[in-house]
Amino acid sequence: FSSKPLLGKKVVITAGPTREAIDPVRYLSNHSSGKMGYAIAHAASLAGASVTLISGPVSLEPPANITVVNVNSALEMYSAAHENLEQCDVFIGTAAVADYRPQNTAHQKMKKDQQGDLLNLPLVENPDIIASVAKSEQRPACVIAFAAETQDLENYALRKLEKKAVDAVVANDVSRSDIGFGSERNEVLWVTKDSRQRFGPETKTQVAHFIIHSVTEMLRT
Ligand code: PMT
Repeated sequence: FSSKPLLGKKVVITAGPTREAIDPVRYLSNHSSGKMGYAIAHAASLAGASVTLISGPVSLEPPANITVVNVNSALEMYSAAHENLEQCDVFIGTAAVADYRPQNTAHQKMKKDQQGDLLNLPLVENPDIIASVAKSEQRPACVIAFAAETQDLENYALRKLEKKAVDAVVANDVSRSDIGFGSERNEVLWVTKDSRQRFGPETKTQVAHFIIHSVTEMLRT
């Protein structure tokens, strides 16, 4: 970005997976590596933005010149998101937030001989972080969600656009092993209420630049 189009703007990005503790040594999680979110944080910083990256547990070096808030669970990510909304212009939800968490976290390691053949693990729904940001009183001008889908990308993206009250949804097909979770590349469909744009397959760096460019355009109009 030669002209620093996001100079003076604050961008908050969530990245990586969340971990939902079952007991002190076990958790529920998913395969997000954080690569997509970290690439977006880097691209936003190159575009001149002041960037806060709320990161689940990943093994990546954070880009230089950004503020990193490390979290584990969806509830921690939810709190961190709301604590960083002040004067936030753009919020991008790249994190693969666990939809459910164990209803109870055992204080001691659960013992197999106390469980029997069938383990019942009641789960409760986590709050939807991006929807709560989009519906909050401190709503940033631009709220962007991702949609991890395995089929019918456009329709599911449109449903998420409406349900989460966001300005755009970046849909990606996570059934493919060459893009999406963990891989170096991604292919996305940018969906707003009146536009669709396909980008990729490209490196996550290129996809991040496409997303930040689209956000810049959106802020201009
Ligand atoms: O991290 P990588 O290995 O690079 O992989 C990138 C990715 C595949 C994780 C990324 O490109 C991606 O698709 N992220 C969204 C993953 C996801 O959980 O999608 P979803 O369709 O379940 O959620 C939709 C949106 O709601 C997302 O913006 C998500 O951050 C948000 N969400 C979901 C649940 C919840 N409780 N709170 C949320 O904010």
